Amino acid sequence: MTTTDLPPLPSDAEVDATIKHVTDHAQRAFLWNYDRSRDQLVTLYNKAMSSQWNSVTELDWSTEVDPEELVQTSPQGNLTVQIARAAAEVPGSPFATWGEKEFVQLGIESLKATMSQFMHGEQGAMIVAAKIVETVPWIDAKYYAATQTMDEARHTEVFAKYLHTKLGEAYPMSPFLEAQIDALMADSRWDIAYLGMQIVIESLALAAFGSMLRATEEPLLKKLLRYVMSDEARHVAFGVLSLAEFYQELSDAELKERQDFLCDNTMRNRARSTTPEIWERMGVNFDEALPSIMEAAQKMNKSQFASFEQGFFAKLVPNVRKLGLLDANNGYLRQRWGEAGLLEFEFADDTGSDYENYDEVAKDRAAHAAAS
Ligand SMILES: [Fe+2]
Ligand SMILES: [Fe+2]
Repeated sequence: MTTTDLPPLPSDAEVDATIKHVTDHAQRAFLWNYDRSRDQLVTLYNKAMSSQWNSVTELDWSTEVDPEELVQTSPQGNLTVQIARAAAEVPGSPFATWGEKEFVQLGIESLKATMSQFMHGEQGAMIVAAKIVETVPWIDAKYYAATQTMDEARHTEVFAKYLHTKLGEAYPMSPFLEAQIDALMADSRWDIAYLGMQIVIESLALAAFGSMLRATEEPLLKKLLRYVMSDEARHVAFGVLSLAEFYQELSDAELKERQDFLCDNTMRNRARSTTPEIWERMGVNFDEALPSIMEAAQKMNKSQFASFEQGFFAKLVPNVRKLGLLDANNGYLRQRWGEAGLLEFEFADDTGSDYENYDEVAKDRAAHAAAS
């Protein structure tokens, strides 16, 4: 490339489109006490160091990925395509003229949109983990959060690389996810970054990664998801260990604020938004398609919609119980979530303390060592 081939410098508007600034209202905490007093966090930090993995050498990026095959081999994994197929049966639907080619393309776009949300969400997690490094008043938690910041950098990077090298152009962040993460970056209370990221969004991520992992046979994606999930299980444990201690010190009024935060967040998750740009890229006017989509969705088996949410609440509710937030203030949250039918998950998955069992990186290394 000669100097005359260099692209022009971006205009101010273009720079604005690639960067967003969020003002953080939390205070940074610089500590003079270096005593390692929290044994469980020390153990978790040591585990995080030994289970770091290398995204360049431990994933085989030479794996050929055919996006069409990826979608066709996991049709049960794609709810958007199932809904569009059912909507095509509704008279007047814009999908009525679609053939197999269009449905497969929709599957690819839907996969790209999901993967894009993973990528943006991971960047949000990296920034929030860095905020925890800055704001948490315990040295053991600062050390641990520093390892998490590195984990989230690796997650952001691998999802971005998979998208760009295997699938194609990314989608923008969904407005729902963006608003949720912005609020955590801006909040003045350090524990809200923890509660929102380590407890709510990490549970959401574990459920979403788990459902993609079950739906795919593609070896690179499978290993990538297994390794990312190994790290995420530790992150949830970090949130549970830290907040269970901190919430013992809070007043009823302060705990009520945290209970309301969880109510707001989980009720919003239940109606979370999709990525509207999918329909634009498929050349479908969403307003025209909406009536047939709604009709198809009503006819479809409710359990198809419920399985993802069940995965999310099965991870979230037990951890919230461990924080004491279900029963504080005379069971305020227990009552609210009970009315929403969420208490059936109270004793479901144990991601809060069971992170050793999720450590696929350690399992692979042990198997490799045994074989050599
Ligand atoms: Fe992550
Ligand atoms: Fe994480």
